[in-house]
Amino acid sequence: MWEFPFNNLDPAGSAGAALLCGVLSERLSSRQAELCSETLCWVFLPVVFRLAGRSTGDSGLKATLPSNSRSHAPSPVSLWIVAIGIVMHSVFKAENGMVAFLPALAPILLVAQRYLGSEGSSSANTDSSLFSLLVNTVWGTALTALLSFATLTAGDIGEYALSAIPTVALLMVYVVLTPKTRKAPRWLPSFEVEKEVLPLSLRVLVLLCIALSVETYLFEFPRGGLLSALTLGLSKALTWYFLVHTARSSSWRTAAATGIFSLLSTCNPFALSSDVQAVSYVVASFLTLGQVIHLLPHQANKSILWAFLLLSLIPFVANTLTIRSARSAIIPSHAHPIETLVQKANTEFQDLIDRQSKTSRAAHTEYRRRYGVDPPPGFDAWYEFAQSHQSPIIDDFDTLYARVSPFWRLTGLEVQEAMRSVESASSNELWLCTFSNREAKTRCRNSHRANDRHIAFSFDKLLAVLPGVLPDITFLVNHLDEPRVLLPPGQKTRSNMENLSRRPVWETLTKYCSQKISGGHEYTVGTYGLPFVTNISSAMDLCHHPEYSSMHGFAISPTSFRLIEGTVPILSTGSPSTMGDILFPSPAYLESEFEYVDAHDIDWDKKQNNLYWAGSTTGGFALDDQWHHFHRQRFVHLTQNLGQQQHHYIRNEDGVIRRIQSSFLNSRLYNVAFSRILHCERKHCRDERVHFHFKSWADRNRPLQSRLVFDLDGNGISGRYYKLLASKSLPLKQTLFKEWHDDRLIPWVHYIPVSQSLAELPEMVLYLTSTESGQKRAKEIAEHGREWFSKAFREVDRTVYVYRLILELARLQDPERPALL
Ligand SMILES: *[C@@H]1O[C@H](CO)[C@@H](O)[C@H](O)[C@H]1NC(C)=O
Ligand SMILES: *[C@@H]1O[C@H](CO)[C@@H](O)[C@H](O)[C@H]1NC(C)=O
Repeated sequence: MWEFPFNNLDPAGSAGAALLCGVLSERLSSRQAELCSETLCWVFLPVVFRLAGRSTGDSGLKATLPSNSRSHAPSPVSLWIVAIGIVMHSVFKAENGMVAFLPALAPILLVAQRYLGSEGSSSANTDSSLFSLLVNTVWGTALTALLSFATLTAGDIGEYALSAIPTVALLMVYVVLTPKTRKAPRWLPSFEVEKEVLPLSLRVLVLLCIALSVETYLFEFPRGGLLSALTLGLSKALTWYFLVHTARSSSWRTAAATGIFSLLSTCNPFALSSDVQAVSYVVASFLTLGQVIHLLPHQANKSILWAFLLLSLIPFVANTLTIRSARSAIIPSHAHPIETLVQKANTEFQDLIDRQSKTSRAAHTEYRRRYGVDPPPGFDAWYEFAQSHQSPIIDDFDTLYARVSPFWRLTGLEVQEAMRSVESASSNELWLCTFSNREAKTRCRNSHRANDRHIAFSFDKLLAVLPGVLPDITFLVNHLDEPRVLLPPGQKTRSNMENLSRRPVWETLTKYCSQKISGGHEYTVGTYGLPFVTNISSAMDLCHHPEYSSMHGFAISPTSFRLIEGTVPILSTGSPSTMGDILFPSPAYLESEFEYVDAHDIDWDKKQNNLYWAGSTTGGFALDDQWHHFHRQRFVHLTQNLGQQQHHYIRNEDGVIRRIQSSFLNSRLYNVAFSRILHCERKHCRDERVHFHFKSWADRNRPLQSRLVFDLDGNGISGRYYKLLASKSLPLKQTLFKEWHDDRLIPWVHYIPVSQSLAELPEMVLYLTSTESGQKRAKEIAEHGREWFSKAFREVDRTVYVYRLILELARLQDPERPALL
């Protein structure tokens, strides 16, 4: 007759088997497979017990059953309590992932079992070793639990607070399954799994079916593969079987400790952002494994279980060695593209500063030279103002001119007509603002809205110093984060407004590109095939980059996008290369939330040597699985090391410097997380919550604690950029949106530009954090940016810009102005 192979295991053997199956279950576990595999587990479990029982003629556990085991039938209540506990735990894992509170089970179970009089009934290891303290004293178990808990949560208790619920559920399960002694209170239900496995299993299955139906109703039927659910289900069933086996000869605390060890030992050190955390995973696994071993009865062969520590140690050592070797393989600085790019950019920046006009006449001439027309009326007074406030930029307003000049096709009267027509459209999401010269005050109105997001306030703040200088003028300001205007070729005054929220808009954005696929414009610096940004205007040009259509939330599914197709001057804070919004400094830059305060910053040498970012999932509205391609999600996915992605590095191989591929990313160099989920439908919010590691909370000054800080688009421009520029940290910036400051902010001099693909980011961060020359460069650029910010981004510098902008707008609307073809 066939014999169930595991019947004659001694306690150490069954504990080993439980550890093995527990770790395997944890490895295989996935949210999609959780409920289905749990269902299969409880289908398998009675079969496993039956097989085990039949092959020994009776119960498979007979050999280890204590002789005084209970004979009365369990109350239905106790069966339901256990079933509910098991299902709650499983549902939580399916919806929220890790049960980080699990370590708290050890001390609570110890206290509970002492109170119930069942503790130490069988194991009774009372030697005075370290593990005796960690197993048999409340403070010892509590200390281990605290360490494990801190390790699993990385200190973010808020994010994992809810996992207290499944922990309490499991506690109930273990308490009910603990054999009842005479000392225990009479009301306490209790029973033995091995005797009641079938009725228990039926109850669990009923509850799981309900849970699965609810999940299917709210989201959809979990789409895990059948095979993975089967494997996981079997592995869970065997874990239960061996845990029951082990618990008989020791205590259910072994089961709790085994669960915690499985959780700790399966953590991937390659995804951790700090060394301390990596070490504490190993230490916590060691202590928890020690608890398991110590709880087992005295036996010669139980020390072999220490071999399980290798499950933590091997990945840890492998991770440490890989990090070392990656650091030592960085190519020498003189050959690194970053050095070349920085040097080149510095020269260009110096030229830019040196060539600014020194007199009013020279500025006038330069304007004519650049744009082929005279500057607008009032230009000389503007020059005097700019000069008297030491504006370091006098001539370079090309971005402003590029956005204003298309309207020259219309006469001044036609421009006014176009503005009136778009203003009369319902729910236009535009503010009609009137600047009155006498009071230097701006008033903005919108028929549907009351809060203008500080638009009027920001114009008042910037223009208060200029009473009696500017013309009275009316202009339209965009209320939304997203840009608004697509300029059709030709001179149409009629415009079309269309709600394009939550739809792919790439085709619309690029429909007036003359030649879509190009890329020959970028000058070549040896970047070894990594997409370091060598020409920022080309990198931001949508017409040259058809691949951006599936790389940015704005292109895939903008959150709120009301496109105006027509020749209407509208002010926006940011807009991509193919659109026609006129740019003005974002009012967000004046908000206290985004203000840089010196006292919150620290010196470079005290900053953590890593890249920091935290924020919400803005940038696109998640209607389907496309959120994987949104810019913020791609960035967090990459830097949290979530996929089996291949990265590129520049290496010296046999004397040849070239690009290599590797799946390695040094996660210690990144502290990146989402802190809020927004802009998604229920199902996809849930998917995102499970896909990424979250922070429950992020201090808005926390970026300043790191040397490198990332900044990228949300739905529109990122309001925190100036805070980062002004700080002693180095901003790494990725954006598709042009802003008013683009002419005066020079990549590789004041900040580091990052491509949309992010493919150069791993090499970039490695170089800037892990070599002496890279660190020196990073510090230098951080200082340059900070210094330049204090010279060229003062409030008065924005006044200088808006002053010139208003002169240009006034000329556009001048009813006397003819069209210029
Ligand atoms: C625009 O479309 C989106 C999605 O289709 C919708 O949710 C939103 O309410 C619409 N906005 C307006 C103003 O109609
Ligand atoms: C950068 O690219 C643009 C095209 O987008 C091109 O006109 C310009 O000449 C390039 N700049 C340099 C320095 O090559």
